[in-house]
Amino acid sequence: MGGRVAVVSGGGTGIGRAIAGRLLADGCRVVVVGRRTEVLRRAAAELGDGVVPVAADLTSPEEVARLAGEVGALGQVDVLVNNAGAIARRVASGDLAELAEAWRRDLDANLMTAVLLTSALTPLLARPGGRVVFISSTAAQRGGSGEYSGGPYAAAKAALHGWALGLARELGPDGVTVNVLAPGYVEDTEIFGERWSPEFHAAKVADTLVGRAGTPDDVAAAVSYLASPGAGYLTGQVIGLNGGAVLGR
Ligand SMILES: NC(=O)c1ccc[n+]([C@@H]2O[C@H](COP(=O)([O-])OP(=O)(O)OC[C@H]3O[C@@H](n4cnc5c(N)ncnc54)[C@H](OP(=O)(O)O)[C@@H]3O)[C@@H](O)[C@H]2O)c1
Repeated sequence: MGGRVAVVSGGGTGIGRAIAGRLLADGCRVVVVGRRTEVLRRAAAELGDGVVPVAADLTSPEEVARLAGEVGALGQVDVLVNNAGAIARRVASGDLAELAEAWRRDLDANLMTAVLLTSALTPLLARPGGRVVFISSTAAQRGGSGEYSGGPYAAAKAALHGWALGLARELGPDGVTVNVLAPGYVEDTEIFGERWSPEFHAAKVADTLVGRAGTPDDVAAAVSYLASPGAGYLTGQVIGLNGGAVLGR
């Protein structure tokens, strides 16, 4: 993959950081994007030469436009991984204003980040050969539950699927592939924060057929294949990566 340029949103932590490291090992120059400059700088320094930190809030059209300008200076984009996301806290009260705000937070963090970044970088995608990957979740396939993967998070991730499939149709004739990867529970990331507990972990592991949690490296390995030149016939798919927690999809 010599000299290819990859952009990984949320590339400073968790799954995104592992994806950045894997694409770097595959020979890409990797732009890692997130809101926290220090986190990105640390990840870039630890991952090694070839990782370029660019801070931006991907819910902001202005910041995404500025980011696209910086990415464009590096040349065409060969690989775009829309990995940034978050799970907003569930709102229990009957207050509709609070409910609307909570839904918008999840839609912004999981859907609009990908919509804005992908739209801004689409003109820069390598044609042919560009690769676009969306990181979704099993929550989109089987519904969310509990505080960690409630309705708005599942709905926001599911919205990515429909949009990504249309994008695959649009970009396929140019030789660009677009796929959705839907991981199950992945440990060692920041997404659950203080809401993580040993009981939650055990329940998620018990849900799998292989009896373990997923790791960021599990996801990175799958992205490495989807991003590779050899994956040019694989497009328009939603691919589960969940230890068997969801079967057949
Ligand atoms: N861990 C799991 O069990 C699991 C399962 C299925 C799917 N996923 C998905 O995997 C992806 C990565 O999550 P993770 O588990 O690795 O959690 P994480 O460590 O919290 O990573 C999320 C990343 O997204 C970035 N981000 C969030 N909002 C952003 C914004 N507005 N603009 C720019 N960057 C933003 C964060 O950086 P900043 O805070 O610095 O902006 C952070 O680096 C997410 O889409 C998540 O939904 C995770």
